[in-house]
Amino acid sequence: MSVDVVLGIQWGDEGKGKIVDILSPNYDIVCRFQGGPNAGHTIIFDGKKHILHTIPSGIFHENILNIIGNGVVIDPVTFINEINELKAINLNPKNNLYISSSAHLILPIHRVLDYIYEKQKGDDKIGSTLRGIGPAYTDKVARRGLPIGFSLLKDFEKLYKELNDFHINYIKYTGIDINEIEIEGLRFREYEDQWLGALALMKEFKLVSVENILHRALSENKKILAEGAQGSLLDIDHGTYPFVTSSNTTIGGVCTGLGIPHNSINKVYGVTKAYCTRVGNGPFPSELHDDISKELQNRGNEFGSTTGRPRRCGWLDLSLLKYAINLNGITDLVLMKVDVLDSFDKIFVAEHINEQNPFDNSEIKLIEFPGWQMDTSSINNYYNLPENLKKFIDFIEKSTSVSITMISIGPSREQILKKINI
Ligand code: GDP
Ligand code: IMO
Ligand code: MG
Repeated sequence: MSVDVVLGIQWGDEGKGKIVDILSPNYDIVCRFQGGPNAGHTIIFDGKKHILHTIPSGIFHENILNIIGNGVVIDPVTFINEINELKAINLNPKNNLYISSSAHLILPIHRVLDYIYEKQKGDDKIGSTLRGIGPAYTDKVARRGLPIGFSLLKDFEKLYKELNDFHINYIKYTGIDINEIEIEGLRFREYEDQWLGALALMKEFKLVSVENILHRALSENKKILAEGAQGSLLDIDHGTYPFVTSSNTTIGGVCTGLGIPHNSINKVYGVTKAYCTRVGNGPFPSELHDDISKELQNRGNEFGSTTGRPRRCGWLDLSLLKYAINLNGITDLVLMKVDVLDSFDKIFVAEHINEQNPFDNSEIKLIEFPGWQMDTSSINNYYNLPENLKKFIDFIEKSTSVSITMISIGPSREQILKKINI
């Protein structure tokens, strides 16, 4: 039992990157198991901000092996950009970063398709990050996709062209001129050249059978940490479908996205903000549309790490929190961004009147708590937290029957309070 897991249990951006970075020194290996560059995981230390999209958040600790699992979809351009940013701070990730040869590639055409599909949906659009995630996973499931390992085959060029042509035929049928669409400010062919260049560089990294590496690590009692992307409510099966991402962000994704057995999993950390946010469209029962929403957005700096879009804000949703805990078998809760609530005189938690179905009939009632109205951001010990905050924490623990073992009081690595020794 030596795999622990960090999962976002809301609609993403809970602060998973920060928690993985903090926990990493306790582990030998840190792995991403699903999602792709739709993720943006922020880590702040020494006054500098780093945002990772594809690379696991253990990468800042050079003695830890970081692995991109088979369940991830990778865009070589984003990947190489991330590598260059790491090189700029004197990290050489070639030594401690492996990639599953079965992880699928996001092709330039997937980004074009993402854009077209969203355009076709009009007002009903998902609000995708437009990173090509959905189309890349679609090709994987349709068994015509390109795992990165295929890039080592002699006929890769042919395989690439076949898949590209397949989609270009569809795009012609829609009447859209592919040359009119820009990706990152470049025409399709120009971007494709950049992509092929990045793929060549990416092939210099170790492409491996992650399954075998992790099985061996498990047999040697090595400690492994699995890092989720997105959040449980964006899960393709259990989220607010169709306003979801295209992968299993919940616990099952760890086994399929890394090839490890269920009984290797030990702790499952559920990361949740002390309130709720969502970027993109779809149901959000406890969403606020007033000054409080603006205050949460401003104080919490609630703008997307990947797209910069403003995040929708609302109160913590206790019913959805319990749903996510049940989906994943959460053993430890991590409560993030409590400092954002510091100035409020009243704080609320939403509960669904009918908890039978998490998303249908999601009429809510609000439970009120007195605020603590003091700056928590430099408190250095759990026991020094204000009493009203402790009562708020206590209420969540009692309502969910799960302990909150870490409390985050600011964006930096140091701004974390651990309730028990972990
Ligand atoms: P992730 O995708 O789950 O890793 O989360 P993101 O990095 O997308 O978003 C979390 C944001 O909250 C980032 O800007 C973090 O720097 C910031 N953050 C993390 N923890 C805290 C906290 O406790 N307080 C505040 N104020 N900001 C935090
Ligand atoms: P991290 O890992 C927040 C949202 C998008 C959109 C929906 C589908 O940083 O928490 P996609 O690009 O997957 O087709 O978008 O999912 N979304 C995220 N929201 N955090 C993320 O990742 C997200 N990844 C995707 O906004 O609503
Ligand atoms: Mg994020």
